[in-house]
Amino acid sequence: MNIPLCRPCVDDAEVDAVAEVLRGGWYAHGAANTAFEQAFTELLGVECAVSLNSCTSALFLALMANRIRGEVIVPAFTWVATANAVVTAGATPVFADIEPDGRMLDPDAVEAAITPRTEAIIAVHYAGQCANMWRLTDIARRHRLLLIEDSAETLGATHHGRQAGAFGIGCFSFFPTKNITTGEGGMLTCHDADLASQVRTLASHGVTTSTLERERHRSPWAKQAAMAGFNFRMSNILAAIGVQQMKKLSGMNRARQRLALHYAQRLAGCEAVTVPAVLAGNTHVYQMYTLLVCADRRDKLVAALNAQGIGASVHFAPPVHRHPAYQGLAPDHPLPVTEDVAARSVTLPIYPGMTVAQADTVADAVLAHLENGD
Ligand SMILES: Cc1ncc(COP(=O)(O)O)c(C=O)c1O
Repeated sequence: MNIPLCRPCVDDAEVDAVAEVLRGGWYAHGAANTAFEQAFTELLGVECAVSLNSCTSALFLALMANRIRGEVIVPAFTWVATANAVVTAGATPVFADIEPDGRMLDPDAVEAAITPRTEAIIAVHYAGQCANMWRLTDIARRHRLLLIEDSAETLGATHHGRQAGAFGIGCFSFFPTKNITTGEGGMLTCHDADLASQVRTLASHGVTTSTLERERHRSPWAKQAAMAGFNFRMSNILAAIGVQQMKKLSGMNRARQRLALHYAQRLAGCEAVTVPAVLAGNTHVYQMYTLLVCADRRDKLVAALNAQGIGASVHFAPPVHRHPAYQGLAPDHPLPVTEDVAARSVTLPIYPGMTVAQADTVADAVLAHLENGD
């Protein structure tokens, strides 16, 4: 048996789109990037979208472009990239605890972590649904803090009708496990054209015009850096995949939702398992399907599923403050919910091409293992 944790949903549409770009000869940032970005602004209802080479670059540039150098409140229950972006941008992550149901920033813990040095909050939307953005938006506004959404795992999810990534500055990932993929890639979304322009410039060596614009409008050799920048651009080839993936997004998310419903029906009656909760006001797009089980049974369950060819995994353990790179930044207050869910979370396979029969096989294996008392 082989049921992977995830599998990208790609067909001839992506293959043909890539072939067209390859035959067309324009491989660097180009027309497909513009189309991909437009698909994002339309879906999210935001003014701007900037395609980049990763979500980590989007998070980093959101901080750099806003000159954030002080404290940034982040959850420790996230992929390490969230905190890495803060440190590499020259700021200091301050870890706040999460709430147990959605496993995302607890607004009360955020408020308690604010100091005179706090400059920003990064809300991480976990596994396919939004953090409590109404409260976090209010906290950010009252304390004049920048609000960044790490939306890597949540493309297409909504919170009280508004899309993830449309509350603050949205940062998306197109790694192969995500709701859409371009292999590697990211997108920054915002409502501020000046910020988007600053991000584009920083992502492109500090040069204010793109190669495509220079080709079209002025002497292609006339390029000057307005600031010291990076090369965080996404290629036209990958953007062409993104354009096709965006056309399939709602269908792929619906398939994830159907599978999640099926898992819940099969597993909710088992006392040893807590199935993921959908928080009030949220639609969930199940980038991952994450259970909670007893801490002392978790590793054995994942190993047993893996031994049967089921690509179960854990997201996220250890929490970021327990990574060796972050030992010196351990919070001076406890993170009890973070520690608890990091020890108890299990991720089951979920991807649009997965069949209900495969979900049944996974559910059977989970139940058989837990009901055996292992
Ligand atoms: C919550 C979270 N933040 C950031 C990232 C980093 O995304 P990328 O690999 O596109 O930089 C990921 C991806 O794994 C993630 O899950």
